[in-house]
Amino acid sequence: MKAVVCHELNKISVEDVTIDPPKAGEVGIKMSATGVCHSDLSVINGTIPAMLPCVLGHEGAGVIETVGEGVTNVVPGDHVIMSFVPNCGECFHCLRGQAFLCTALPPTGRQLDGTTRLHLGDQDLGAMTALGNMAEQVVCPAMNVVKIDPEVPLKTASLVGCGVATGVGAAINTAKVEPGSNVAVFGCGGVGLSIIQGARIAGADRIIAVDLAANKLEMATRFGATDTVDASDGDPVAKIMEITGGVGADYAFEAIGVPAVVQQAYTATRRGGSTVVVGVGKVVEQISFNALMMSLEGKTVYGCMYGSVNPKVDFPKLLGLSASGKLDLDGMVTNTYTIDEAPQAFEDLEKGINARGVIVFD
Ligand SMILES: NC(=O)c1ccc[n+]([C@@H]2O[C@H](COP(=O)([O-])OP(=O)(O)OC[C@H]3O[C@@H](n4cnc5c(N)ncnc54)[C@H](O)[C@@H]3O)[C@@H](O)[C@H]2O)c1
Ligand SMILES: [Zn+2]
Ligand SMILES: [Zn+2]
Repeated sequence: MKAVVCHELNKISVEDVTIDPPKAGEVGIKMSATGVCHSDLSVINGTIPAMLPCVLGHEGAGVIETVGEGVTNVVPGDHVIMSFVPNCGECFHCLRGQAFLCTALPPTGRQLDGTTRLHLGDQDLGAMTALGNMAEQVVCPAMNVVKIDPEVPLKTASLVGCGVATGVGAAINTAKVEPGSNVAVFGCGGVGLSIIQGARIAGADRIIAVDLAANKLEMATRFGATDTVDASDGDPVAKIMEITGGVGADYAFEAIGVPAVVQQAYTATRRGGSTVVVGVGKVVEQISFNALMMSLEGKTVYGCMYGSVNPKVDFPKLLGLSASGKLDLDGMVTNTYTIDEAPQAFEDLEKGINARGVIVFD
């Protein structure tokens, strides 16, 4: 089968790889669609450390083909969205209602038993977040899949696996945006646009979108931003202060992964407000806060992993919001690609052309 392999840093290609059948507790999936997230690019360029070589992709949906021994949550033919975090229900964090921090799988791109089902010739391949969704087929732990209504289009459902869950969840679960509040969102890619949608659903009053690219600001307006700030044209913090009457935003989100922008978001947060860091920066980078003002201004800084979601609970909720027209999933997909066109999809991501690009399989 075809798969997008990251061989070493900054080197990807579409390869013909072999895949073993699922073992106990695993499922085999025929992929329908995989969103192209900045985190995939971050594995390619080394921002997010991963064991290489590996098959990329962590935002996907498909149809169950085979199930290993002991699998009870799905049967062949079921439609599923894959979660890039496992959901064991038993680890320290799952027991405390924080499934987004489940530690059941080590971050090695291997399955639960420490081995892999993917091979390129004689060489073993890992799978990004144990999924490897940029492939015609996937074998992953059964606990990473969430069964969905077969009527839901899988192309748009794929986005729920990462960008939409993370963004909408950041607004609704992590920050708990309140009706009538003011929100600033730095970075209007797939994740930032989903934060904007989440803030709109939560009933925010002003939603201020910040980006360097005019096309992204235009998209932000379509998804619910009330104000736009072009960060390439002067200090975005000053503009947010102006828009909020000198107070700052109740909630400011960073959805890029750049420490300097996290600092902008923190500065643009009002006294007593919340800064939510969703973007993923490099392991060698630090973010610093003023030691006097950190306490005096009473701001809260949240690290946001996976929109603080429980995939089993929140994926169906997000699809419900989409079905009732409150969450626009269709509008998020601005381009589709075949798996052979995956390198082009990454180029387009870097150029900032798409809200989300999606690889579709027939
Ligand atoms: N926390 C999580 O669980 C989680 C999940 C998914 C993605 N992420 C991270 O979220 C971030 C965004 O992902 P994405 O897929 O939306 O990326 P993307 O590339 O689609 O979007 C990033 C946007 O930021 C804009 N931008 C870049 N520099 C900027 C600046 N200085 N000021 C303002 N705007 C700027 C770009 O123009 C682009 O529109 C990445 O760091 C990704 O790794 C985190
Ligand atoms: Zn992602
Ligand atoms: Zn767990």
